[in-house]
Parts: sequence; structure tokens; C-alpha cells
Amino acid sequence: MKRVLITGGAGFLGSHLCDRFIKEGYHVIAMDNLITGDIRNIEHLFPLPNFEFYHHDVSKFIHVSGDLDYILHFASPASPIDYLKIPIQTLKVGSLGIHNCLGLARVKNARVLIASTSEVYGDPAVHPQNEDYWGNVNPVGPRGVYDEAKRFQEAITMAYHTYHGLETRIVRIFNTYGPRMRLNDGRVLPAFIGQALRGEDLTVFGDGSQTRSFCYVDDLVEGIYRLLLSDYAYPVNIGNPGEITIREFGEEIIKLTGTKQKLIVKPLPTDDPKQRKPDITRAKEILGWEPKVSRAEGLRITYDYFRSLPDEELYKAAYHREFVKK
Ligand SMILES: NC(=O)c1ccc[n+]([C@@H]2O[C@H](COP(=O)([O-])OP(=O)(O)OC[C@H]3O[C@@H](n4cnc5c(N)ncnc54)[C@H](O)[C@@H]3O)[C@@H](O)[C@H]2O)c1
Repeated sequence: MKRVLITGGAGFLGSHLCDRFIKEGYHVIAMDNLITGDIRNIEHLFPLPNFEFYHHDVSKFIHVSGDLDYILHFASPASPIDYLKIPIQTLKVGSLGIHNCLGLARVKNARVLIASTSEVYGDPAVHPQNEDYWGNVNPVGPRGVYDEAKRFQEAITMAYHTYHGLETRIVRIFNTYGPRMRLNDGRVLPAFIGQALRGEDLTVFGDGSQTRSFCYVDDLVEGIYRLLLSDYAYPVNIGNPGEITIREFGEEIIKLTGTKQKLIVKPLPTDDPKQRKPDITRAKEILGWEPKVSRAEGLRITYDYFRSLPDEELYKAAYHREFVKK
């Protein structure tokens, strides 16, 4: 049985990856300090003999006994609210955390795949963004702690590949959504749906003309799985090229939820990217991958998930937003 370590395994994406590797017959070890994750995302896996959970901070020395075939480094605060609240931990997990994973990979002779992000492109001057574009990032702006951590993470991973000959893979993930996102993580989709469910108006930051491209989580996981098993060491964009303005997206959520509320406008945060759309030519050519789930279908599944949550989750979300504003 192949063995895989997934850091950030109790998070949104990490938990879906745990499910996928269990389904593929792997022994899965999830490592997480639960700083933004939730144990409930992986609770259903605890009875399985081929699943283990280590409650541990990846930025500290990591040890796993036995063999390891693959390490997937997904531990990192991932939403603007999270990384503005815990900026130093964000920088540490993107630097010390990946250094620990790469060291472990060398000892175990394992292949490493890292979760990078479209944020390495910053506020892009090239559209759509392809992997050869180097980005437009403000290192000292509020988003710098996340964007630069991810850029460093790519650089050190590539250095281990070229200098030590380690097998490495880099996925640049564009906005992904689906069940197990947190209602209070500040990302646009849970924010809109949470507001609709609480009967509040939906907040659009800026004039709403900025664009995003949303990928359903199952499509992303398929792309990551193919990339891990490929022999390609350079970055690959995985995302859905279906681009939409935030205003249009808000209108789609109003229609989906049937809320009587409307869109309201607030000032745009600093360094908010104006456009986001992956060029997925490389993923198509190298992995034979492209997204399959339409936005209508993915949003319906995600909305059903949020609707099934207990009421206190909805109000915890509202409280969290107030807390962050202070
Ligand atoms: N969701 C997206 O749209 C998206 C887009 C681009 C990149 N990514 C990347 O994917 C990864 C997962 O994102 P997500 O959306 O699932 O976020 P998430 O917050 O749900 O998951 C991150 C997980 O990492 C854990 N974690 C954070 N710091 C840790 C540490 N020092 N030690 C151990 N565990 C730690 C958290 O507790 C959480 O469970 C992140 O690296 C993120 O940067 C996500």
C-alpha cells in the first residue's frame, strides 16, 4: 500500500484530497494544527485502518515513522481574512513548513507536491495568466505575507529539485469552491451565500467589475492527482477558465438562493487583483485535464452543503466578520 502525507489535511482542500487518496487505496496520514481547519472535515475517516491523523504544526520539525511515497504540502492559511489575522504563521508555514517537508522527503525518498496559488501572479498585467508570467506582487502590501510565502515555497521546491534531484510537483491553484469551505473565511462565495442565508444584503467590494474564475473542488482534486503522478516538475495552473465579474457572480447567488436581498457596494481592499483567469493549456497538454463540473452544478451542491449546516455556524460567521473589522 502506497503511503501519502497530506499537510493541512483537515482543511477544505486537504480533506477532499484525503478522501481521494483513501478511495485510490492509499495509506493516508493527515497532519494539521487546526489553525484554520476543522476536524469534522475528516472525522468520517478516523475509523479506517489506513488513515492516521497527526495534530502537529508543520512549521516545527516533522517526523513520520515508516515509508512515505508522496508528501502533499497544503498547510497554509488561505483566505485574506485568515492570513491578515495570522501573518507570521502564514510566512512560517510557507517557508519553514515547506523546508521541513522537503527535508522529510529527502530522508524518505518521497515525491513532494506543493499547493501554490494564482496569487503568485499578484495583480496580473497578463490575461489570462499562463505559467510563464512572473507576476506583479507587492511584497509589503497586506497580501504580501501570503503571496511571497507562496513564491518562496515555489523557489525552495525548485531548488531541491535542481540541487538535490528531489522529485517535485507545483500546482498553481485558482479560486476553488465546494463543500467544507468555511462560511466565515472571507472568500467571496461563502461570504455571499452566508449573507443570503442570514437575510443580509450581499457585499460587493469596489464596483464589482473585477473578475474571478471558480473551479469546483472535484475538478481540482482530479488535476492534482494527475499532476502528482505525472513526470512534470514545473508549475501547472489548475483552475476553471470560466471568468465572471463579482457583480454577475453576486447576481447568480441571489438567483440560486432566492433571497430578496440586493447587492451593496463597499470600498475595494488594498491590492485586490482586478482579474483572474487561468490559461490551462499546459494542464490540457501535459495532464489531459480540464474542468468538467459546470458552475451551475457546483454552486447547487455547495449551496446545499451550506444550507445543511446548523444555524449557529451562520451566526458564528457573522460574529467573525465583526471581529475582523475591529
Ligand atoms: N481554496 C482555494 O481556492 C485555494 C487557492 C489557491 C491555493 N490554495 C492553497 O491550498 C491549500 C489549502 O487551502 P484551503 O482552501 O483548503 O484552506 P484551509 O484553511 O481550509 O486549509 C488549510 C489547512 O492548513 C492547516 N494549517 C495551516 N497552518 C498549519 C501549520 N503550520 N501546521 C499544520 N497545519 C496547518 C489549517 O489548519 C487548515 O486545516 C493552501 O496552501 C492554500 O494556499 C487554496
